[in-house]
Amino acid sequence: MEKCRRDAYTTTSRPLMPRRVYIETVGCQMNVLDSELATADLLRAGYEPVDDTRHADVILFNTCSVRQHAEDKIYSALGRLKHVKRQHPDKIIGVLGCMAQKDRQTILRRAPHVDLVIGPGQLARLPELIARVEAGEGPIVELSLDRRADVHGTVRASFLQHDPPRTAEVRPIRQQAMVRIMFGCDKFCTYCIVPAVRGPEQSRPAEEIVAEVRRLAEDGCLAVTLLGQTVDSYRDTSGQQTVRLADLLGRLNEIEGLRRLKFVTSHPRHITTDLIRAVRDLPKVSPYLHVPAQSGSDRILKLMQRGYTAGKYREMLAEIRETIPGAAVTSDFIVGFPSETDEDYRQTVELLRESRFKNSFIFKYSPRPKTKAAELYEDDVPDEIKRQRNNELLTIQNAISLEDAQTWAGRQAEILVEGPSKAARKRPLGDATIQLVGRTVCDRIVVFEGPQELTGRILPVTIEKVDAFTLFGRVDL
Ligand code: 5AD
Ligand code: SF4
Repeated sequence: MEKCRRDAYTTTSRPLMPRRVYIETVGCQMNVLDSELATADLLRAGYEPVDDTRHADVILFNTCSVRQHAEDKIYSALGRLKHVKRQHPDKIIGVLGCMAQKDRQTILRRAPHVDLVIGPGQLARLPELIARVEAGEGPIVELSLDRRADVHGTVRASFLQHDPPRTAEVRPIRQQAMVRIMFGCDKFCTYCIVPAVRGPEQSRPAEEIVAEVRRLAEDGCLAVTLLGQTVDSYRDTSGQQTVRLADLLGRLNEIEGLRRLKFVTSHPRHITTDLIRAVRDLPKVSPYLHVPAQSGSDRILKLMQRGYTAGKYREMLAEIRETIPGAAVTSDFIVGFPSETDEDYRQTVELLRESRFKNSFIFKYSPRPKTKAAELYEDDVPDEIKRQRNNELLTIQNAISLEDAQTWAGRQAEILVEGPSKAARKRPLGDATIQLVGRTVCDRIVVFEGPQELTGRILPVTIEKVDAFTLFGRVDL
């Protein structure tokens, strides 16, 4: 069976029986995009995506290592597959992404039934590496160089840039797509594993990005999210003139057919007046900025090596508010960073209260091996305190989010319809009108009733009711 399938595959460009691949993704939008691009490559190589490991010939986990919890989830999933592999030794199990780069051989030690370990800078080689495992070469570990172990140029080259063409079938809906504009990160915030696992910061050439977005727009894509770890530090120096994010947005804004553009994640230090004005002036750019503050205490920000003070963050936010009234700003915070006192935490509460973020993601500090914080500072804030601080910040933020949402009651908003809501997806098909979900330009989620065919359309809705996380509307057709 195994041999027959392989022969069929190697002797024709289209396999007689397509092999089926299951990809599970955890982590950030960058990972979601990597999985979409990996799926595009695998479709081209003749694979068929399936959504159940039981039906898959190849099972892939695209992993995250930003917090311990994300890694634990993957190790449990791998544990559950142990007996599956015993019963079906020909099934290929692969670990892709950040945890692969970070844990390396440890993955094979903890989960010896894994066949493939591929870092985020090696995903371009995925179909070839799977084929090598099928040919009996496994297990294979394919990683980029360790940032600490080599000179910059070689390390950079070992993180292969990979943004292959893709068809709309790899995305949830044709009308929305993510586009990477940068790889890696050079900030080295002391708590963060990303610079180690995603490698040195590299901006993609503007020409390439413009061409990719143009192709997407021609293919019916209406909304593009530009991705980078510090997307606002985008800088293409390959041409005669340096192209920064504000310039790039200006060029993308001209693309016919494209209706919406946004970018994540911004670093407070790189939010410039030019960029804020570009967001205000370019009609297709959403007035939405995700600018993590992480803490309101200067002492903690310094230990985190964030490169700004709470005062500087406030100045930046004030400029955004003044220039773009009604802009939605969102943030991330870490509670329980080593040595965080009640007073440090109180300063974070103060910043959170006054900043009026649309929403904030709050995380408990999780020491990441080989980061500066994990090596230099003791993880000395008890978990119970971390939990309390986390819950309290969430409660404060939720109250602000609710007040913010309430300003929408009775107003009209324009949404891009993303498809059936989670609740509607669970119900059997058949109803002409179902619950649908859409998104405003400011990334607010709107739930409303309508025919499924509205998916992918940009429509006006009137908001009738709100809660902290959702607006409930009526479609105005
Ligand atoms: N512990 C907790 N949260 C972290 N983040 C990054 N590293 C850690 C860590 N070690 C959070 C930051 C970042 C978000 C993506 O994840 O808030 O902005
Ligand atoms: Fe991590 Fe800091 Fe880079 Fe963001 S800017 S990815 S938090 S090192």
